[in-house]
Amino acid sequence: MIRWMLVMASTLACATTVSAQTDVVRGNYLVNPVMACGNCHTPKDANGAAIEERALSGGGVSFTIPPFSGTPPNITPDPETGIGNWSDEAIKRALTHGERPSNARLPGVPLAVMGASFFKALLPEDQTAIVAYLRSVKPIRNAVPDPVYRLPVRHDSYPEADAGYTAEMMRDPIKRGSYLGSGLIKSTIQERQRDRQTPSSCVPTCHSE
Ligand code: HEC
Repeated sequence: MIRWMLVMASTLACATTVSAQTDVVRGNYLVNPVMACGNCHTPKDANGAAIEERALSGGGVSFTIPPFSGTPPNITPDPETGIGNWSDEAIKRALTHGERPSNARLPGVPLAVMGASFFKALLPEDQTAIVAYLRSVKPIRNAVPDPVYRLPVRHDSYPEADAGYTAEMMRDPIKRGSYLGSGLIKSTIQERQRDRQTPSSCVPTCHSE
């Protein structure tokens, strides 16, 4: 009996490790090539190239748009200057609703610039994968100055994201392409296009890639 329980426990532990590794691989795919979080959150060198050893530690670009001036912050697991103290739910909420947790800097102040209106389309398992990947990157200490908000944050409505996607839809290659292309990649592109349409919107680094 005890031997059987040990076998079950080790099988379960092994399954959990495999699933956690799968999440990190999927999260890497979403955070890097698909959603390009580092375009905004990874610092750049003098030539505008991403400084990979400081990936996601904040300060990649600066935005000056009518409602907001600021720099994307540190989203590595550093507990003091990054999001190491945020719960999984809080990270998911920031992505899909543009809200910050009460234990973070600027509690209650909504997040500008990021495409929460699109990111709300993220399937729950993809939200989990993104969180797993963000927790797996190297914690880097880097405090980014607080942003300045001049107007309330606008969250536009996008039909594909509002209608939502399901795991079932992912079996259809066209719907899967729509999810990845329209829902997630476009979020990054459209947020930037919106900034470009705004007169005097971004400082030059915003358009450097
Ligand atoms: C178009 C640029 C841009 C992209 C792309 C982007 N972000 Fe952000 N993100 C921002 C900005 C700007 C802020 C800060 C807004 C503020 O401080 O009010 C932010 C804030 C955050 C925060 C809150 C951190 C804090 O300390 O308040 C998290 C978490 C976050 N982003 C995660 C992500 C992830 C994960 C991705 C990719 C899936 C991503 N971001 C893609 C611009 C971006």
